[in-house]
Amino acid sequence: MSLHLNAKEGQIAPTVLLPGDPRRAQHIAQTFFSDPVQHNDVRGMLGFTGTYKGKPVSVQGTGMGMASAGIYIHELINGYGCTTLVRVGTCGSYREEVHVRDLILAQAACTDSNINNLRFGFANYAPIADFGLLLRAYQVAQQRGLRSHVGNIMSSDTFYQDDPDAFKQWVEFGVLGVEMEAAQLYTLAAKFGVRALTVLTVSDHLITREETTAEERQTSFNGMIEVALDAALEIA
Ligand code: HPA
Repeated sequence: MSLHLNAKEGQIAPTVLLPGDPRRAQHIAQTFFSDPVQHNDVRGMLGFTGTYKGKPVSVQGTGMGMASAGIYIHELINGYGCTTLVRVGTCGSYREEVHVRDLILAQAACTDSNINNLRFGFANYAPIADFGLLLRAYQVAQQRGLRSHVGNIMSSDTFYQDDPDAFKQWVEFGVLGVEMEAAQLYTLAAKFGVRALTVLTVSDHLITREETTAEERQTSFNGMIEVALDAALEIA
């Protein structure tokens, strides 16, 4: 038990996938896990544990944003001893060559959040992915013929920005896309000495306004989950 998770000791596997949406956690467990058992229902933030290719694995919803995700990440590591954490989510693309449905493997995450300023004051910490997980995920994506991009992303505290052009500064500095959680995942993983990666499918495009159907989003989402599971369970 921890404050926001009511799983019993030993009910959560060392390897955990982290979607923002708790319904996606349920979809992942029902679609990819053998014998899934729900381990959490506190605040409706569903979590499940089962096996994938014979290995124990869990999935836990985190909610949107770094304030929410940080709570679950902290408790999974410190309350349940989880050691390999892979965020699976969607992002907006900042670049012409990164199309909707492509994968982004987040090598590092910039942020406009103040959370790390509470830790580091005026100094800036550079949150990065675990290299072994990143490399394996890239190889698996290549083997599966999935278009994927490796690089820097933006973890923002806001989905709706006051200035619609503000993101262009990040485009100029090579950032591939925007989501809302990875920078805290990477920072907390480093702090507590565990492995972390963020794998994203591009759901919307801030420049071309390219769009996808719900069905296309689901297919590319499922491809991403297989990449995350294969990479995480081989490395763990
Ligand atoms: N902004 C922030 N997070 C996101 C977006 C976006 O455009 N798309 C998917 N997650």
